[in-house]
Amino acid sequence: MLKSILKKKKATETVQLAHDEFFNDLRTKNYSRLDKDKHVYLDYTGGNLYSSLQIEKHLELLENNTFGNPHSTNPSSSLSTNLVAEARKKVIDFFNAEDYYCVFTSNASGALKIVGECYPFDADGHFLLFADNHNSVNGIREYCKKAGGGFEYVPMNVEDLSVSSERLTEQLKSVDKKNKLFAYPAQSNVSGIKHDLNWISMARDLGWDVLLDAAAFVPTSVLDLKKYSPNYVSISFYKIFGYPTGLGCLLIRKDSFNKLNKKWFAGGTVNLASVNAPYHFLIDNHERFENGTVNYLDIPALKIGLEYIESIGMKRLNERVESMMDYLYTNLKNMSHSNGVNQVDIFGHPQRKNTGGTMIMCFKNPDGSKIGFEKIEELTNQKKISLRSGCFCNPGLDETNNCLTNEELANYFESRNSGSYGEMIKYLNKMRGATRISVGVATNQNDLDTFLSFVKSIKDKTIASIV
Ligand SMILES: Cc1ncc(COP(=O)(O)O)c(C=O)c1O
Repeated sequence: MLKSILKKKKATETVQLAHDEFFNDLRTKNYSRLDKDKHVYLDYTGGNLYSSLQIEKHLELLENNTFGNPHSTNPSSSLSTNLVAEARKKVIDFFNAEDYYCVFTSNASGALKIVGECYPFDADGHFLLFADNHNSVNGIREYCKKAGGGFEYVPMNVEDLSVSSERLTEQLKSVDKKNKLFAYPAQSNVSGIKHDLNWISMARDLGWDVLLDAAAFVPTSVLDLKKYSPNYVSISFYKIFGYPTGLGCLLIRKDSFNKLNKKWFAGGTVNLASVNAPYHFLIDNHERFENGTVNYLDIPALKIGLEYIESIGMKRLNERVESMMDYLYTNLKNMSHSNGVNQVDIFGHPQRKNTGGTMIMCFKNPDGSKIGFEKIEELTNQKKISLRSGCFCNPGLDETNNCLTNEELANYFESRNSGSYGEMIKYLNKMRGATRISVGVATNQNDLDTFLSFVKSIKDKTIASIV
């Protein structure tokens, strides 16, 4: 009896959301479309939402000016050149990155591809990476493999999806090669865990070049590149402020610039090229990697976006996001079916320490069996809740989470020439994937409560599961 009273009390637990007045006001002014559509958006790690203010400012810029292809001296061209330069400077200031070149790319994957293509992997090269990485980092191993280098993963702890510092140190110390690249995400795009940024200097001191994938970290955390200095950093801007899509950057430490060996040239990347004598001289700055015409109409919107984030303040945003995750976690962990079985298993650190605005979970039936993530997405779609499910392009974390063995994975891949996630689930007859919710600048209490009400609405129900 006492137990059930305690449970009831806990189920209604509330946590005051940080800076509620400020963010509610922001929502009314800049994100009213969400309420107009009665849309609950919980996929900020997938893509952030733009504010009306950003759009108005960018539209005004486009409507009142004439922009031409940059790099000429004519007035329309000079305007583009100047605004692209201003945006680049803003990015550098935002990340305290005076020691870096800022190369504009189409997204974080485009930034990672440059490193994969140009890092001097050869028989004396090695690539070390976390099992907790986005596929756009995992894919770099193919460049390394093809060039004759070796690669190796640093595993995650199954209990809390963290990486052991001792294990990492051991692996970093065990490789004696000339060109060693170590890649990890500053924040996991799945578990939300913020990995230790002190590992950057530790790895660099041991002779490694470090590629920090900051795509999931920078939307709600400060990245100070004077304090932490990886050689290469990948970023997607729409993840920070929603608009525009199609732009990211690769930040390259100036002293690591020449280590990237560009294997071809394109318009805008050379000081000089000849046809009759097949020689070329590449440009010695960011332009070397920006092939062809840059996105000169959208790049000025980056400055607008970064100024918008500055006007909110990353510290304020971070505190807001943490309080929202506390609220969700406190409520979700106490939600159970009438027979006492938890409705959701939340993956990751049990105290949710240092885990940003992202949470993954698996839903369970009253008999304890797991509910397929696609079923949950189907049901939340009907409630106009946008969340994400599946493996989030991070197969390593998914495999760890669902305890898939190397043998069963190898068996699957070696028994066919092509396959898919769904087919693999059927073949292995094992649960894979999870449901991810992520919060951000426009999330309010009502969004969180709508999601919690959804969870309550399936209490005591049995939903067809895969295993
Ligand atoms: C940690 C991380 N890295 C890289 C990427 C790839 O970003 P994009 O799809 O913008 O290239 C993502 C996207 O979700 C991500 O979360």
